[in-house]
Amino acid sequence: MRPTARASEHPADFVGGLAAQSAAIVVAAGSGERLGAGRPKAFVALAGRPMVAWSLDAVAAAGIPRAVVAVPPGHGAVAEEALSGAADAFPLGLVLVEGGATRSASVRNALAAAGEVEAVTVHDAARPLVAAELFTATLSALADADAAIAAARVTDTVKEAGPDGLVVHTHDRSRLWAIQTPQAFRAGVLRRALDVGDDVLARATDDAWLVERAGGRVRVVESSPANFKVTTPHDLALAESLLC
Ligand code: CTP
Ligand code: MG
Repeated sequence: MRPTARASEHPADFVGGLAAQSAAIVVAAGSGERLGAGRPKAFVALAGRPMVAWSLDAVAAAGIPRAVVAVPPGHGAVAEEALSGAADAFPLGLVLVEGGATRSASVRNALAAAGEVEAVTVHDAARPLVAAELFTATLSALADADAAIAAARVTDTVKEAGPDGLVVHTHDRSRLWAIQTPQAFRAGVLRRALDVGDDVLARATDDAWLVERAGGRVRVVESSPANFKVTTPHDLALAESLLC
């Protein structure tokens, strides 16, 4: 089924105040293997606070009234304790749900707790330097798209090589984007896109791909490399130096 929005999903004021009619999903259920901190990455201390708390600050500052955080199975109590101070910033609630085996499964679990909203924005807890304005810019870009995703222009030349290491193609850099989060969706579009088998979910490296493969309109919204993902100890040290 083509996940375009139905007429009822296009009220005249869809864009005006859309943040207020949306919910944020913050995926924080990964184990952080590559960081190797001995605990789930989203709950590692970053500039004195659990990493996920920085993203929740930006979500609240964008005027999004409800947030659902997918947390690692078995770490519910730790997560609740870590986020107890953040609840007051969300007038329609800060909800914790158990994440899934893959990132998209975590998104699907969280979406079930998002409530009746016009739009949903999905963000990685591993991008703690996100600006509040990026949430509002991606939500606004839903005016003519099913999904609107933060993306940075690619600055390196990108070549494609075969298994033998020989270059077969040099891509046109002006058309290439490095995809980040937040990714904003019309809520019905994301629900339908996630209604697929676990094998398809496991292949999704981002949620927008699930919308693309179903024929939806996905728009990029220019972001900057400053919204990088903390993956390695080097990234954590860089984020720490930028936040202190
Ligand atoms: N994530 C999630 N549920 C999963 C896997 C990942 O909620 N089953 C979240 C992570 O918590 C993170 C985001 O998706 O905020 C991006 O994933 P990634 O950077 O790969 O984080 P981890 O999976 O934790 O790290 P690693 O791959 O190194 O184990
Ligand atoms: Mg991962």
